Amino acid sequence: MTDLTVRRLLIDLETPVPRHWCGGDAFLTAWFNALSMSFPVGEQFFIDAVRDGAKALPEDQRARWDAEVKGFVGQEATHRRIHALFNAQIEKHGLVNDWAPRAESRMKLLAGADVRHALGITAANEHFTALFAEWLLGHPEVLAGSEPRLQALWLWHSAEEAEHKSTAFDLYQALGGNHEWRVKWMRRITVFFLADALRQTVANLRRDGTLWRWSTWRSAGRHLLGRHGLLRANWSAWRDYFRADFHPDQQHTERSADWLRDNSALFVAVGR
Ligand SMILES: [Fe+2]
Ligand SMILES: [Fe+2]
Repeated sequence: MTDLTVRRLLIDLETPVPRHWCGGDAFLTAWFNALSMSFPVGEQFFIDAVRDGAKALPEDQRARWDAEVKGFVGQEATHRRIHALFNAQIEKHGLVNDWAPRAESRMKLLAGADVRHALGITAANEHFTALFAEWLLGHPEVLAGSEPRLQALWLWHSAEEAEHKSTAFDLYQALGGNHEWRVKWMRRITVFFLADALRQTVANLRRDGTLWRWSTWRSAGRHLLGRHGLLRANWSAWRDYFRADFHPDQQHTERSADWLRDNSALFVAVGR
């Protein structure tokens, strides 16, 4: 069982966010904005999946899961609340969230399905999130030119994602979820996640008027496909998920604990 602390982040999201808040980089700003747009809807889905999964456990196992499920739900609920505030700020830049309604209509297709499907989807998404979180915590230069409050938002979220990366996966296993469906969902989620993230990023850049700038594409190339770029650097860790003996804990996340220890002035613990 993982011990999960729920933290309230002490940052101001009432003050407007600059248009190119990520160090003046139009691509990075559009990319992070796109991800943030998916969080309120996506993280509610993860919360529901984990809650419903816990309810489906045999009676004698439920108590053992109580604290971890509560911690997971508390962390994700805080993330979605704070990202909704952030999203309200970036919408003032004329951006439109097309990802959330698309994801919501897909989620409706799962109504009435075995809860292990929603958990398999959640576990796959959490693997993506954990890889992204570790990459971001390990590449502080990506956020270096951003306001401290926005660095705090993204790094706090990353640190907590790394902390709870096993919850949905473990619950899926505890409910007898099999390898075949786990990897089937990972294949599908990879296609949906990358297509949705890129589509929303392009839409954000188009609305921002920066889609056809050379600097935008150069930044995209460097941060996604470059040697230390997000996609290239995480390729092999992504592939590990397909191994029959994979477990999220096999992938190291010390950076999460380091960040939480070094930045404890930025949040207060509200529950454990
Ligand atoms: Fe989250
Ligand atoms: Fe998460």
